[in-house]
Amino acid sequence: MVKYSCERCGKGFSQKSHYDSHNKRKTPCENNADKIKILIDKAVEEKFKKLNEKLIVENEEANVNTNAMQQQKKQTNQVKYIDLFCGMGSFHYSFQKLGFKCVMASDIYKPAKENYKKNYGVDVLGDICDIEPSSIEPYDILCAGFPCQPFSQAGHHKGFEDSRGTMFSQVMRFVKTNVPKIVILENVQALLNHDKGKSFAKIKTELENEGYNMVYKVIKCSDYGIPQMRKRLFIVGVKNIEVTNLEKFFDLDDYKKTNTLTQYLGRNFEKDIAYTLRCGGKHSPIDDRHNWDGYWVDNKEYRLTIEDGLKLQGFNDYNFVGKQNEKWKMLGNTIPTIFTEIIGKQIIKHTSLSA
Ligand SMILES: C[S@@+](CC[C@H](N)C(=O)[O-])C[C@H]1O[C@@H](n2cnc3c(N)ncnc32)[C@H](O)[C@@H]1O
Repeated sequence: MVKYSCERCGKGFSQKSHYDSHNKRKTPCENNADKIKILIDKAVEEKFKKLNEKLIVENEEANVNTNAMQQQKKQTNQVKYIDLFCGMGSFHYSFQKLGFKCVMASDIYKPAKENYKKNYGVDVLGDICDIEPSSIEPYDILCAGFPCQPFSQAGHHKGFEDSRGTMFSQVMRFVKTNVPKIVILENVQALLNHDKGKSFAKIKTELENEGYNMVYKVIKCSDYGIPQMRKRLFIVGVKNIEVTNLEKFFDLDDYKKTNTLTQYLGRNFEKDIAYTLRCGGKHSPIDDRHNWDGYWVDNKEYRLTIEDGLKLQGFNDYNFVGKQNEKWKMLGNTIPTIFTEIIGKQIIKHTSLSA
């Protein structure tokens, strides 16, 4: 049995006398202590390396699982909306940047459907009258920039008697069946006073009868950094959702910004703010009251281009296809994306819906 061992060479002895004479050798034994230490260190290092590799693999697996869970959670929590009368897609342009998901879009105008598909990859359904609301997957927000001609100053002022005026009843079909948490309606300012206020009162009453709390405001493009005179009415109704300070929904001072046409379009415009882009009346003489696309730039007549139009409606990266007249029609109809972006951000700020 080994009782004594040499600290230099590691040799073992059972008897003390042998151990003592080993230590008293004339030729000292070989010093193995360093070698043994190196061997032990190597073995320990090897063990740690293996342990570390195992931990890395386990960590990676855990990360993959967490990411998948987060992704799944994100998808189930994702804010979903439908885009009625979607046109070239101002709501979609802004909402996709906020992480909202479009579950249905509808428009009757072929070039609008083509552009929507090209830019957002969504197949747009046709006439709203032919869509069955119960066939749509559940969603949180209903967006509807319904046709404004019946109410606009330039229209025939027929309001709800005009066949297009009934588009609001079409919207209500979806509201009643799908009961979205938020309803966003967009229209021209003239809707407020149309038919001595009766058209607006009808919209308000119908939404309130369905249990929606409502706020509304007319907002102007040029107040938010887009130098265009365009003003639009936004109505926001909320139901079955936590809301904080709904009355402050349209306190939009944080978004205020000033820009002149020259700063914004990079040419020397005599005018600071552009006229409202419209569907018709293009190429009217520059001093005519119908003119909206003609400007003085460096004392020469300048007509807005499609690129200018896209910028003045806030579409900075849009793959626009179609004929010139179709493009102008879509541009004249659309909503400046600064408006839809602000509304989306205010929804995140004031309600429990989040991206
Ligand atoms: C004021 S524009 C809406 C613009 C749109 N929100 C945008 O961001 O470009 C009204 C749209 O309603 C569409 N429309 C008119 N009647 C319709 C109907 N019966 N069904 C679906 N869309 C219709 C028009 O083609 C037009 O694009």
